[in-house]
Amino acid sequence: MKKQRLVIAGSGSTYTMGMMMSLIEEKDHFPLKDLVFYDIDEKRQERNAEATEILFKERYPELESFSYTTDKKEAFEDADFVFVQIRTGGLAMREKDEQISLKHGVVGQETCGPGGMAYGLRSIGDMIQLVKDIREYAPKAWILNYTNPAAIVAVALKKEFPDDERLLNICDMPIAIMISYAKMLGLEVWDIVPEYFGLNHFGWFTKIYDTAGNDHTDRLKSKIIHEGFIPEDKEIANDVSWQKTFEQARKMLMDFPEFLPNTYLQYYLYPDQMVEKEDPNCTRARQVIDGRQKRVHDTCDGIIEQGTAEGADLHVDIHGVFMVKAAASLAYNLNERYIVIVENNGIISNLPHDAMVEVPALMTANGPKPFAIGEIPVFYKGLIEGQYAYEKLVTEAYFENSYVKLVQALTLNRTVINPVKAKAIVDEMIEVNGPYWPELK
Ligand code: NAD
Ligand code: G6P
Ligand code: MN
Repeated sequence: MKKQRLVIAGSGSTYTMGMMMSLIEEKDHFPLKDLVFYDIDEKRQERNAEATEILFKERYPELESFSYTTDKKEAFEDADFVFVQIRTGGLAMREKDEQISLKHGVVGQETCGPGGMAYGLRSIGDMIQLVKDIREYAPKAWILNYTNPAAIVAVALKKEFPDDERLLNICDMPIAIMISYAKMLGLEVWDIVPEYFGLNHFGWFTKIYDTAGNDHTDRLKSKIIHEGFIPEDKEIANDVSWQKTFEQARKMLMDFPEFLPNTYLQYYLYPDQMVEKEDPNCTRARQVIDGRQKRVHDTCDGIIEQGTAEGADLHVDIHGVFMVKAAASLAYNLNERYIVIVENNGIISNLPHDAMVEVPALMTANGPKPFAIGEIPVFYKGLIEGQYAYEKLVTEAYFENSYVKLVQALTLNRTVINPVKAKAIVDEMIEVNGPYWPELK
């Protein structure tokens, strides 16, 4: 079994330590030869790197080398895999996205509505540059990108690198939802075989089977409706915000019982309710800064101080395990079935060919091989077409420096709709984003 050289780009991320635990957990299925951290923020990277060094000495002694750098050549040369998890503008800009949106009375969220638009315009340029840098030194490396807003980043990267067959956008939300399904059904999450369609953070499970082919869909729906729905992954199970989100997914299912919704649909289906429950002084970004980020920083500081990871508050999370398992399936041609983001190309026959859709695919050494889905019912088609038009317009606004296209994008987005508001939000976002955004005319 070939051992891999893996680069983590954006290694200062709050997800890095969970990813390290997942790499340890999965070492027999995705063995590493070398691990390299890459980030543009030396200090932010250092804390995770020093803690990882200690952790890996104790729990991954087989690793031949571990290094961290801000130098692109050093990082990407000879890479087999690059996991990309950057956040242009950091959590500070995420907080601004959320607060500005709420100030205008609309949903303030990382990837949905104006927040997704603002973050998208920040992410696209950095992601294009990063992919170019990786390709300069590692033309054949698999790039697994989960940088958000993954939906918009996927559209933009497809436009910039249409022929790059080793660039895959991926999101952990479907599998994070499936853990809860598995628990309710008494199954292992990896033994659930889902049917699913949509865009990233905008999709539905249509069937839930197990590996033997048994159909659990109706039983699952009934259990969710009658017994409630809660997050089960360790990373989010005790988080009040995620608990409310899962409860809202239950309500969505009661209102629209045909398919099981992705949790992010709450922002598009009940935008007013989402705005009402938000506190502009403590949006999700603030909760993450004071919660996940603080926890990870404290844990790393503790490991560094004590010189051991023994007893540290670290755990394997579904986010990390999913990315590693997906990578292993690509590396070793395992043909495992995962939900990923790919160009539609007729998979959903009544949606545009160029849409970047989120669907199940077999992950092979020659890339993801998605399954045909056929026509989707008109309600979902209508919703997806509006959302895809928004994603495409944000991307075109970036490439064409178009102010008008951004206003059009927000006018189409279900979280905004009102063009007067759309214009006011775009105007304020331009001011606040400054050099992070392309110049708009
Ligand atoms: P974070 O701010 O803690 O970490 C991001 C890191 O990226 C920082 O260390 C930063 O210095 C670095 N960075 C920024 N620009 C960079 C660049 N151009 N090149 C290299 N490094 C750069 O953010 P986080 O909350 O840990 O999230 C990281 C990313 O992962 C975000 O985009 C987040 O939305 C995404 N994410 C996506 C999923 C998914 O399902 N798609 C799941 C989890 C996290
Ligand atoms: C899920 C989504 C990601 C998102 C993450 C964290 O995993 O799929 O795209 O970035 O949640 O969201 P949070 O709001 O907790 O930072
Ligand atoms: Mn996601």
